[in-house]
Amino acid sequence: MMVTRPLHTLPKLCSQSPQNGSSGSKVLVHFVNQSGMKSSVFVTEGESLLDAVIKKNLDISGFGACEGTLACSTCHLIFEESVYDKLEQTVDEEIDMLDLAYGLTKTSRLGCQVTVNCWMDGMTVCVPQEIKDQRGKQEAQSSK
Ligand code: FES
Repeated sequence: MMVTRPLHTLPKLCSQSPQNGSSGSKVLVHFVNQSGMKSSVFVTEGESLLDAVIKKNLDISGFGACEGTLACSTCHLIFEESVYDKLEQTVDEEIDMLDLAYGLTKTSRLGCQVTVNCWMDGMTVCVPQEIKDQRGKQEAQSSK
């Protein structure tokens, strides 16, 4: 017997990247760097966001210093709440590193620990901009 599901319960299909010709599922991810510059890239499903930043050579200063070994927090990314709520649970080591991260928010995660899935297609992740703001404040105070 064939089981049918209403259309609204079917998972969203990933985009197929037209530019590289590979047959793997591609997920469109928008990255916003420290300067507010947006880069939109297709990421292969199953890759981490750190892998994506490195492979696509995105302009994110100092990102992924420990290469995904959970020994830094330079891959800190802020997620949209609707996406964050669906991410896999954080492990204790990630929570420890997040505690050290600049600009921590309630939707912060480490990019090396988040694997891209089809349902994330079209999401935007942001690098915290507080570091720049803090420097700006210090420079403003020191010039007084
Ligand atoms: S790259 Fe260092 S914790 Fe993610």
